[in-house]
Amino acid sequence: VRSRVALRVNGRTYALDLDNRVTLLDALRELLDLTGSKKGCDHGQCGACTVLVDGRRANSCLLLAVTLDASEITTVEGLAASDGALSPLQEAFLEYDAFQCGYCTPGQLCSAVGMLREAAAGHPSCVTDAATAADTAHPAALTPEEIAERLSGNLCRCGAYNAITRAVAACAA
Ligand code: FES
Repeated sequence: VRSRVALRVNGRTYALDLDNRVTLLDALRELLDLTGSKKGCDHGQCGACTVLVDGRRANSCLLLAVTLDASEITTVEGLAASDGALSPLQEAFLEYDAFQCGYCTPGQLCSAVGMLREAAAGHPSCVTDAATAADTAHPAALTPEEIAERLSGNLCRCGAYNAITRAVAACAA
């Protein structure tokens, strides 16, 4: 079965005629040539495919593209400014050497952007218990341990976790 869908990605609208079984990740990479989002496991385990859907982080390998007709999707290609200037988080990843092979980096960046937004909003998924809710109203309250925990869905096989945490912490401060 095929469906027509208008995917909104990084501020552009793409009219597509898709097999209903096509994942968002495959649509991004194979139909839109947006190859920043990576396919690691294709089963929701590694986080390499993380994008933002309506501002919330999501594993694009677990979403069917046809279900996202009204959604705003942001991939790593959409994090920099329109003039190409890197975002503060991207700059921090450079400054803190927060990658080695770089395969997980797009997912780490998108996940961190979503996580910092969740933390700033005091989102329940970022709050471990009610007593800490007030402390997480601003991302500056996040400890390195909390940042690491909240990014634990994004695996890095090079083991650059400490540098990633430092880069994210620099943006949370
Ligand atoms: Fe989607 Fe691994 S490729 S979580």
